[in-house]
Amino acid sequence: MKKLIIAIDGPSGAGKSTLSKALADSLHYTNIDTGAMFRAVALQTMRQSIDLNDEQQIEAMCRSIDIRFDRSGTEERILLNGEDVSAAIRTPDVSLLTAQVAALPVVRKTLLNLQRQMGENGGVVLEGRDIGSVVFPDAEVKFFLSATAQQRGKRRYLELKAKGIEVDLDQTIAEVEARDLADSSRQHAPLLRAADAIDIDSTSMSISEVLSKMLGIINRRMIPGTER
Ligand code: DC
Repeated sequence: MKKLIIAIDGPSGAGKSTLSKALADSLHYTNIDTGAMFRAVALQTMRQSIDLNDEQQIEAMCRSIDIRFDRSGTEERILLNGEDVSAAIRTPDVSLLTAQVAALPVVRKTLLNLQRQMGENGGVVLEGRDIGSVVFPDAEVKFFLSATAQQRGKRRYLELKAKGIEVDLDQTIAEVEARDLADSSRQHAPLLRAADAIDIDSTSMSISEVLSKMLGIINRRMIPGTER
């Protein structure tokens, strides 16, 4: 059976990571978390104390950086120049910096090439912000996964609470809205819904409901003659 390229784009907190992993598991495909790649670049700029306005330094860093995924264990790990940085890229400081680093054209170009290499043979689920619109405009299946900012903020609030981190619900919702604005208003590769993407609003759906809806659509695309 043909190995497809599946793109999942959408704002933060819509459930992309969970669904991308679940889809890749069900289909025996490779999951590619492109946000983790941008986070790894941000971590490297932080470690090298690179000034984000210094294009030459950024370019030099992009030329030498080595980002890969290690899927040999039960959990997928991301390696930055050979070091497992899966936990280090999730700190609030790195999250903030990533939004700025992801707006730099040279960073986007470097990761675009890498993402295309990783996905070119198909059998991949890529999740991000511009996969269906820029990275793989010919992907066989494109989902645009969204949910209201209210709902995404609430999910984030519950996630943090479950980890024992006390936060304010209204503030968490406001942070989600601020990130939406930063992601969709930047000049280079903003969050963009591809014209041929299939919209899924997960506001009042469970993960398993969204997963079975996605699998139904993918299965129809895999069997010739039944595509919509
Ligand atoms: O999905 P995430 O929260 O791990 O993404 C981290 C940051 O990277 C977020 O600010 C959006 C940005 N990003 C991007 O610009 N393009 C992608 N394909 C994926 C993430």
